[in-house]
This record gives sequence, structure tokens and C-alpha cells, in this order.
Amino acid sequence: MLKILNIVGARPNFMKVAPIYAEMKRRSADFEPLIVHTGQHYDAAMSDTFFTDLGLPKPDVYLGVGSASHAVQTAKIMLEFEPVVLREKPDWVLVVGDVNSTIACSLVCAKLGIKVAHVEAGLRSRDRTMPEEINRILTDSISDLLLTTSQDADENLKQEGIPVEKIRFVGNVMIDSLLRNLKIAESSTVREELDLTGKDYAVLTLHRPSNVDEKEVFTGLLGALLSISERLPIVFPAHPRTLARIEEFGLAERVASSNIKLVEPLGYLDFMRLYSGAKLVLTDSGGLQEETTALGIPCLTLRENTERPITIEMGTNVLVGTDPERISKTAFDILNDTEFGRNAKIPPLWDGKAAERICDVLLAQART
Ligand code: UD1
Repeated sequence: MLKILNIVGARPNFMKVAPIYAEMKRRSADFEPLIVHTGQHYDAAMSDTFFTDLGLPKPDVYLGVGSASHAVQTAKIMLEFEPVVLREKPDWVLVVGDVNSTIACSLVCAKLGIKVAHVEAGLRSRDRTMPEEINRILTDSISDLLLTTSQDADENLKQEGIPVEKIRFVGNVMIDSLLRNLKIAESSTVREELDLTGKDYAVLTLHRPSNVDEKEVFTGLLGALLSISERLPIVFPAHPRTLARIEEFGLAERVASSNIKLVEPLGYLDFMRLYSGAKLVLTDSGGLQEETTALGIPCLTLRENTERPITIEMGTNVLVGTDPERISKTAFDILNDTEFGRNAKIPPLWDGKAAERICDVLLAQART
């Protein structure tokens, strides 16, 4: 029996851990899974809704760290998590993604000699100004098992000198959650509530500090988005950080009088219902690049780089950067191109069975 502490902290973690936890519960003779929530995200809309939508139980352990600077947040998670590890004595700690909770919990375990499995290992944007890139590099360098979503990630890890025995290409758990919930999300009434039924619309998410924290950059992006919104309405569920910046930079009125519909952050199922019907998605998120690729929806990534190049090589993602003219031109080109995405494919092992493979790998490790 393997005792596993599954770590969640921020919004993009919940849909990755949910299928893994469910699979471990299904194999209850082999696994004893617990959920540890660091509390990095704590708003109902950023956290609780996801537990309900994804059928996750209340966390077994809640660290309640909340928001702070990166150093303080990371340190607080470490301080709170160490006694939990000492008390629970898990066989493995499983971390996902690239948020501060991921590196903080991995680091605690590395020092205590507790084995860490990193799900979504090996992704690299090669942009070290991104906090997530630092979290990825550091977490991978101290994890015992590196579970990857695509083969380019395996290559990145090998190039960094990680022994191949530690690397396993298992596929994408985010797509497990997507495929499991697509039908369920049809019962969401979000399109009706936003008066979108039968209409073409785009969906926007924006929350990277590099895009929203500087007035000039954010205003430039908004200019491009306003011109696109004249062609089709844009629904914009905004992250708390982004909402705060809109107020701070005095942009609220410009948005309110436009065809951009600003709404509160949505739950997992409502958001899936929303983007799955969109003509176009514009985003700086990591996960949404993958979700749109899995569904064949055109996606413009408003960043200069991506750690998920497979979504561009095989899928429907286009990296457009933050130059307003380039963004609007590319958006109009895509909207005018009825053939766009015709040859796009779903990447290997994005098949809804990644969680099964992760459990298989953990069991196989225990037997060696
Ligand atoms: C974090 C992740 C990022 C991920 C994003 C998804 C890191 C380094 N970054 O960024 O990779 O894409 O989550 O949302 O871990 N806030 C609230 N309520 C909440 C959570 C946050 O109001 O429940 C506000 C606070 O003002 C906080 C700010 O959002 O200071 C930023 O939160 P934080 O967890 O530091 O990082 P994110 O920008 O959310």
C-alpha cells in the first residue's frame, strides 16, 4: 500500500490532481491517497468551486498560506508542510505543474529524503523571468520521478542531465479531466446567462504579471482586444490580480463601454462550457493552450514564448506575443481562414488515460 500526499495549491493544480486522486481511490488496495491544499489560492471562485466541480473531497490537510510575496509565500508553505510530512510519513509526495506550491513542497521533501513525483515535468519556456520557469527547473532537478506530458519535455530533461530512469512519458492529466467533464459541462447554463447562445464569441484570459502589471503593456494589449471585440464579442473571466490592475490603471470604463464582457473568474465546468463553444480563445495561460489544442479551437497565446511547443507544432495554438498590431492581424487572419486548424492533431497520450499510467508507474517503482 502506497501512501501518497497529493499537493494542490493554485487553480491550475486542481484539474490535474483530480483524475490522479480518483484513480488512486479506485485502486484502494494499492494506494492510500491524501490531499494537501496549501491555500495559495483561497477565494471561493479560485478554489472551492473547483473541488465541487471536479468531485474532489475536502482536503485532508489545509495549510492556509494565502497570498504574499514569492519568498514569503514559498517559505510559509515550506514551514507549514514540513510537520505534515513528518507526521504522515508518505511513500511519495506528488506535485503538479509549476506554481509556488509545487517547488515549496518538493524542496521540503528533498531535504527530508521523501520521494517526490512531479507531474507535468520537463516543460521549458526558456524564459527565466517567469516565476513558473524557475519553479519548473528547480522542481525537476530535485524530483525522483519526472512524469511528462509530451516527448519534447523528455528531451529537455535529458539535456539537463536528468537520468533517463527517472523520466516517464505518461501523457496529459489535464486532458483526462477535460475528457471526463466535457459532457457534464453541457449542463452549465453559462452561455445562456451571458446571452451567447447561437452567437459567435471569443474568450479571453489574462493574468501573467508580465502582461497585466505594467500599465503600458496592459493598455497595448487592451487596444488589440478592443479592435477584435468590434468583430466578435469577447468574454473575459478575469483573475483577481487582473481585476485589481484594471481598477488601478483606470481602465474600467474603457472596458465597460466596449464589447469586452468582463466577468468574475468562472468555475471549471462553466469555463469549459464557455471556451468549448468559442470561435477563438486569447490567453496567456498554460493550460488553456492545451485544452484548446485537445478540442481543436483556435488559440492565440499572448506571450513571447511557450513551455508547451507541442500545442503549436501539432495543435491549434499560435504564439503572437504582445505587439497589439500583430495580435489583431493574426486574430482577423484566423477568423477569415475557414481552413485554420484543419491539419491539427491531438498530441500522443492526450487520451484520458494519463492518471492510470501515473498510478502504474508509481506501483512499478515500488516493486523495483
Ligand atoms: C499563480 C501561479 C501561476 C498560475 C496562476 C493561476 C505561481 C508562481 N503562479 O499565479 O502560475 O497560472 O496561479 O491562477 O505560483 N488572489 C486572490 N485570491 C486568490 C488567489 C490570489 O485575490 O484566491 C490575488 C492576490 O491578490 C494575490 C494575487 O492574486 O496576491 C496573485 O496570487 P498568487 O497565488 O501569488 O499568484 P497568481 O498570479 O494567482
